[in-house]
Amino acid sequence: MAHAVPTSTLDRLSPAEADAVRRLVADAAAVDGTSALNEAALLALDHPGDVRHVLARAEDAGPGALLRGYAQLAPGDGSTTGQLVVHPDVRRRGVGSALLGALLALAPSRLQVWAMGGTSAAQALADRAGLRLARELLVMTRPLGADLRAPRVPDGVAVRTFEPGRDEQAWLGVNARAFASHPEQGALTADDLAQRMAEPRFDPRGFFLAERDGVLVGFHWTKQHAGTLGEVYVLGVDPGSGGAGLGGALLDTGLAHLRAAGDTEVELYVEGDHAGAVGLYTGRGFTTASRDVMYAQP
Ligand SMILES: CC(C)(COP(=O)(O)OP(=O)(O)OC[C@H]1O[C@@H](n2cnc3c(N)ncnc32)[C@H](O)[C@@H]1OP(=O)(O)O)[C@@H](O)C(=O)NCCC(=O)NCCS
Repeated sequence: MAHAVPTSTLDRLSPAEADAVRRLVADAAAVDGTSALNEAALLALDHPGDVRHVLARAEDAGPGALLRGYAQLAPGDGSTTGQLVVHPDVRRRGVGSALLGALLALAPSRLQVWAMGGTSAAQALADRAGLRLARELLVMTRPLGADLRAPRVPDGVAVRTFEPGRDEQAWLGVNARAFASHPEQGALTADDLAQRMAEPRFDPRGFFLAERDGVLVGFHWTKQHAGTLGEVYVLGVDPGSGGAGLGGALLDTGLAHLRAAGDTEVELYVEGDHAGAVGLYTGRGFTTASRDVMYAQP
């Protein structure tokens, strides 16, 4: 029964609590094959902001005790985004229902919840709470072999790498325009960018900018994960500058960089209903590996 599982809500986590959440997320990922929290939610564990944290603690709450479950609530423009995860050892005991109930009670606006990997467990939990499928994010991958296309940069366009301290403002402008219809990426602020640039794995040598007459018209920010996995982290072209092969050229530039850095596999996330982008990636040999699903209050 949901009310049998106590939860506590916090505005910020102590370093030990943030570590306990990371352990919980890692234990769950080892079973689920994917992280239940996305990058923004993981960053928010250490960076106090307007998110709220819901903890379902273990009964034996000694130091280092595992959390039974964790949920995070991030209020946004007109809707509130939640993510939740239950430790694999204590699933089907009402912890997920209690966390989702807490999110529903706390959300100041329409709640939408991410389910990474879109499992049948998440679907069943969402169904029971009256949430409906609202968005699908495809996780696409491809091996990085010798069959990569050589980048063909359109005439009049020059590609260089991002210079910290110089390119932030121009990048924020193009990013906001390129992702105007994308709820998270398009809303990225200077602070959000600074947080991502402060991550240990940030490397401007893998962050490509395309300029026409010195004006930024597109970019491809690649990311290096542990081992030999690379990511097409964000690829964007200023509306009005697209359609000239710029997106493809930027994609090919980044893929060649990741392969030269030793990566053997590359992944990316793309909105399932963004036909143009999905077409670009499919044409470059990417296939859908899994789907992240968003459920929302009707
Ligand atoms: C989805 C998740 C949060 C469920 O947590 P949980 O603590 O096991 O959920 P509960 O015990 O509260 O289950 C509530 C109901 O959801 C449904 N459900 C949960 N897991 C299920 C499963 N594996 N198969 C079918 N139905 C399931 C059932 O209807 C269940 O009620 P019941 O046990 O009385 O039949 C958990 O599996 C998890 O952490 N998954 C990875 C992260 C994730 O997908 N998060 C997004 C959730 S929307």
